[in-house]
Parts: sequence; structure tokens; C-alpha cells
Amino acid sequence: SLLVLVTAACSGGSGGQKTVSESDPIVIKFSHVTSIDSVKGKAANRFAELVEEKTGGKAKVEVYPSSQLYGDNDELDALVSGNVHMIAPSVTKMVKLDPRWQYVDMPFLFNDQEHTRKFFESDIAKTLLNSDKLASNDIMGLAFWENGFKHFTNNKHPLQEPEDFAGLKFRAQAGKVLEAQFKALDAGSATISFGETYAALQQGTVDGQENTYNNIDTQKYQEVQKYMTLSEHGRLDYAVFVNKSFWEKMPDDIRAQVEEALKEATELEWKLAAEENAASLENIKNSGKVEVLSLTDGERAALEEALQPVYDEFSEVITTELIDGIRNLK
Ligand code: LMR
Repeated sequence: SLLVLVTAACSGGSGGQKTVSESDPIVIKFSHVTSIDSVKGKAANRFAELVEEKTGGKAKVEVYPSSQLYGDNDELDALVSGNVHMIAPSVTKMVKLDPRWQYVDMPFLFNDQEHTRKFFESDIAKTLLNSDKLASNDIMGLAFWENGFKHFTNNKHPLQEPEDFAGLKFRAQAGKVLEAQFKALDAGSATISFGETYAALQQGTVDGQENTYNNIDTQKYQEVQKYMTLSEHGRLDYAVFVNKSFWEKMPDDIRAQVEEALKEATELEWKLAAEENAASLENIKNSGKVEVLSLTDGERAALEEALQPVYDEFSEVITTELIDGIRNLK
């Protein structure tokens, strides 16, 4: 039977039949850190289905959720080196390559979801996706995916006034802007990867964190946090990045079909972001485990004012072009 196999393999190459390499699908490895039932997890899986449909199986997306392949600390390196082909990190985690991505953390920069979407469709957003800084690391951005506004949770006491944050320690995603945000509130922070945050909250390594309703809910932070303040002080959004060499090597027709699949998945993702965050807020409230606090207009204004030093320190790094550009989209 070994002989038969060898003969078959040889004749495959010369006899006009499909060779193994022609019939094997192009595998696109897509790694991410959230769970399969999160906004990003659902959209990534739908993208995989759409790629299968649109390419007739010629390309296949393998999705690795929940940091099972790579976590916060190494997924970007894995993309740069081509060990994975696609990631969709929270954009602030791109700070290693281009600090301007921390635009997303600038306090109270975005008004609402509509404002965020206008930004996603703007020319300034495209300059971030196609920057030389990314290209020189052999990656490029293809699309923005939305999550939502962040809210503070903690274990110590209700957070209403800026003074309430003093002395507490928070988990941060990445970067100096978030560090400065907590410092402006006389609080401490530690960069902890997403995959390790639940344990850090449970064990009291940190007192609190900031995230969207959907991330809080799908990570079950309500089990290990006592208070959540509806602060909407900053955003958490994603961009989908690919390894550039891998992307450019893909046959043109297949790449066009994958692009079409991404376009549809992106439309779905934007829709899901709003729906799933609303459903998650209800889940968190219904858990009965977290006290949910809202801010008065005065408390919100006080928080915004307390966070002004972040602009003084970082407007130049983020660039006023980007900050004013976003403000002008309002
Ligand atoms: C976080 O680290 O909190 C988020 O960036 C996780 C994610 O990908 O939504």
C-alpha cells in the first residue's frame, strides 16, 4: 500500500490532477484573547464561516480564542513574525509599535457610539491602519472593530468622586496613558494581561479594573468585584491586523473574497457591539453581585477635570492632529 501512495503522489504532480498543495486550503490563523461568547469572539467565528463560504473552502480561518495560543504579551510579536496571520487587539496594545494608538484612552474624547463610528470611517483612522510604522514591522490594519465605553469596577468602596480613587490599585491593559490616567486620580496601576486579570482581581493583587460591559460580563468580573461605576470615561475598541507578507502572497481572487468576508463580519461586529454590551449590562445588574452606580453630571465633570493632566502630558505623543481630528468629527 505504501507503493500505491507513492505512485499516487507522483502522478498527482505530473498527471494534471490536483497536487496536494493546490487542494490544501490557505490557513489563516487568527488569535485573540477574549472568550468565544464575547463580541470579538462571535465576530471572529462569523468571519471564519464567511471566509469558508466565500472562498468555497479555498481559505480557512482557524480561530484561537481566550489567549489559548497567544496572550497580550506575545500576540503582536507572533503577528510580526508570521506565526499567526491575523489578530484583533484592543488598539491601545499597539502602543509598542506606535504610541498614537493610545488615542483610545484619552479621557472623555469620544461622545458616543456614533462619534466612534465616524472616526472608524475617517481618513485619520485610515492613516493609523496604514502607517509606515506598521508596514516596517510587516503588518497592516484592515478594519476597526468596536467594543464600547469603559467603566470602573473595584472591591473597596463606591467610586463617585475623583477623591474616591486615591490609594486604590487598578489593572491596566497597556501603555503610559492609562498609567497617567490612574496617577491623575492618585491611584496606582499595574499592566496585567487580559488572561490573568480575573485571578488578579480575585486574589486582590489589584482592587479594580476598567472595561466594557461585555468584557466584564464574559470574564465574570462581577463574581470578584463589588462596585461598578457607569463612567464611560474612555473607550475600548479593536482593529484587525494582518501579517503583510502573508496577505500580499495570497492569490488575488482569494484575498478579494477574504476582504469581502471581513467587510461583512465588520458590519456584524458593529451591530453586535451595541447589542451585546446592552445585554451584558443587564446580566451584570441581574447577577445581584455588583452594586451599579451612576454619576451625576457634576460628578462626571469633576472626573473629566481631574483627568485633564493626561492631555497636558500626552497630547504631543498622540498628536494634536489626531486629537483635534477626532474632536472635529463630533
Ligand atoms: C483587555 O485587555 O481588557 C481587553 O483589551 C481585552 C479585549 O481584547 O477586549
